[in-house]
Amino acid sequence: MFETLTAPESDKIIRLMGIFAADPRPEKIDLGVGVYRNSQGQTPIMAAVKAAEQQVWEAQKSKSYISLAGDKAYLEAVEDLLFATRGAKAAIATPGGTGALRQCFEALKYLRPSLTVWLPEPTWPNHASILHYLGLRVETYRFRDATTGGLDHTGLMADLAQIARGDAVVLHGCCHNPTGIEPSSEIWHGIAVTLAARGALPVIDMAYLGFGRGVEADLAGLRMIAAECPEVLVGFSASKSFGLYRDRVGAVLAQCQTPAIQSEMQGLLTWLNRQNYAFPPDHGARVVQVILDDETLRANWIAELSAMRAEIDANRQCFAADLRRHQMADLADQIAAQRGMFSLLGLSPDEVHHLRNARGIYLVDDSRVNLAAMTPEASRNVAGAISALAQTGQSA
Ligand SMILES: Cc1ncc(COP(=O)(O)O)c(C=O)c1O
Repeated sequence: MFETLTAPESDKIIRLMGIFAADPRPEKIDLGVGVYRNSQGQTPIMAAVKAAEQQVWEAQKSKSYISLAGDKAYLEAVEDLLFATRGAKAAIATPGGTGALRQCFEALKYLRPSLTVWLPEPTWPNHASILHYLGLRVETYRFRDATTGGLDHTGLMADLAQIARGDAVVLHGCCHNPTGIEPSSEIWHGIAVTLAARGALPVIDMAYLGFGRGVEADLAGLRMIAAECPEVLVGFSASKSFGLYRDRVGAVLAQCQTPAIQSEMQGLLTWLNRQNYAFPPDHGARVVQVILDDETLRANWIAELSAMRAEIDANRQCFAADLRRHQMADLADQIAAQRGMFSLLGLSPDEVHHLRNARGIYLVDDSRVNLAAMTPEASRNVAGAISALAQTGQSA
């Protein structure tokens, strides 16, 4: 039976990790994969996480199952963190943000298999990949203006204004991946009001909380949407914000209109956990809960996250300065204004391959760059290489 198998095409970003690992050049630089790196190129465990793990290790007497939906205290801590208010919300713990999004999309399929799910153009490739795998219809709405490299505000609002009642709209809660474009507060408000008027269901992907302008500021869009729209789905990831990548910590929160609907939604989400993996992982979730519920650990976590954000922003400003030195002021201005780990450089796949082959500079094919991994030396190299590309049309 296996001899008839043709494997699906693997994820481009995951494939790039393998190509990078096999590249023998010592000067190679990985600006592809979306993981935070400090100035020594490491992805350290946060001190607040280590301290919380110690507490969990000392207190935990059993590894027996907890609950299909996940630990209640964890889910309440995440609800408080994201919404700052309690309400009629159903919630489940999930393996990471990918698990959360998968369960959101499964819930959409269960609720309304004929709906269309609208994705920003561009977006994280796994959104469309999972939706297609589930057989859901996918459309895109305009987000990035390819000419300016900034937000296509007119296109965005025009497309959202056409969305049919009962369709779902995926939004990046902050630090849009791959563009780094952040809608202003006014624009978030316009998005929230439009979605509410259309009767569309927002699905908020919150994977980079704290990497934009700070934890509270990064939640402004989500909270405006939750205030305007009666029903909201949120897929939360603790991978980046708590550095818990491999421990797989995430959650789905569903804002519902009444306690009776909440109870049905809780039943659906819990059932979906049962279908897909039964009990969600607990260790990392408990670590997050311990941090959020302890005043000192929470303050330490916020401080560490702020330091990471400041470091990434310093890398951005350094790269923007190098681009300006090479007379690329427009690109420099875009990069300097964007937030989070990523920006798009606006290069063609051929140019990206050229940087990889000739210079050992690894970007994702769409020219997404991870600013967390951008050292001063890499910044000079990449700016020089892009400038040479712009001048010669190809070789640097
Ligand atoms: C936009 C976006 N959403 C969700 C995720 C899922 O993250 P994880 O499954 O690692 O928690 C990622 C990870 O790269 C992402 O970039």
